[in-house]
Amino acid sequence: MSTWAVLAAAGSGERLGSDRPKAFARLGELPLLAESLRRLEDSDWIDSIVVVAPADWEEPAILLAEELGAGKVAGVVTGGATRAASVRAGVAEVPADAVVILVHDAARPVLPEEVVERVLAPLAEGWDGVVPALPVADTVKRVRGDEVVETLAREELVAAQTPQAFLADVLRRAVEGGEASDCAALVERAGGRVKVVEGDRRLLKVTTGADLELVQSWL
Ligand code: CTP
Ligand code: MG
Repeated sequence: MSTWAVLAAAGSGERLGSDRPKAFARLGELPLLAESLRRLEDSDWIDSIVVVAPADWEEPAILLAEELGAGKVAGVVTGGATRAASVRAGVAEVPADAVVILVHDAARPVLPEEVVERVLAPLAEGWDGVVPALPVADTVKRVRGDEVVETLAREELVAAQTPQAFLADVLRRAVEGGEASDCAALVERAGGRVKVVEGDRRLLKVTTGADLELVQSWL
């Protein structure tokens, strides 16, 4: 039973405002991508890894994997214009005999091994997908322009993170289903059953320079 990881690293990182794609912004001595890649490489649960790199950054991604001694990296593919397109490209590189695919954002460098374990376990119990999530602290409102249209029931809301784990066949079909901001949404849309498990604050998504400094301070 083989478990593949697709590491989505093909975003441009516009909000970070670096001179290079976010995955190659410096986090200490190495590119941001190195931290999650190393953790996937070291994970007891992951057999192989596909890195989805920005166009023209495939070579640096391959060199980084070599530098880290990340022998599980089976391929580096070029991403697309959106996260969903990038994940689609990554999933296409996963061989047909893979049973489980875990999708992770390189923008969340601090990937705890226990979360990997937590998202994989329910797949053996009949779930199609598993997402880690945190309770929402703020009250979330639906707005149109500057007018509040609706206030959502906070106790029903969670903020989804990655890594998200899926039965490989379910994800393969779901990624053909167009655009969404995470993979679980594609699986839900395709009628799949997605379980939510406890997320982790350390899985903060690096969006701004301040996020990068915060994550740096944890390492
Ligand atoms: N991602 C990707 N391909 C894209 C867009 C995003 O692989 N076309 C990946 C990013 O590399 C990141 C994750 O999806 O690991 C989450 O995206 P986000 O945090 O929005 O990163 P960026 O799109 O790079 O940042 P921004 O939106 O500020 O440009
Ligand atoms: Mg983005």
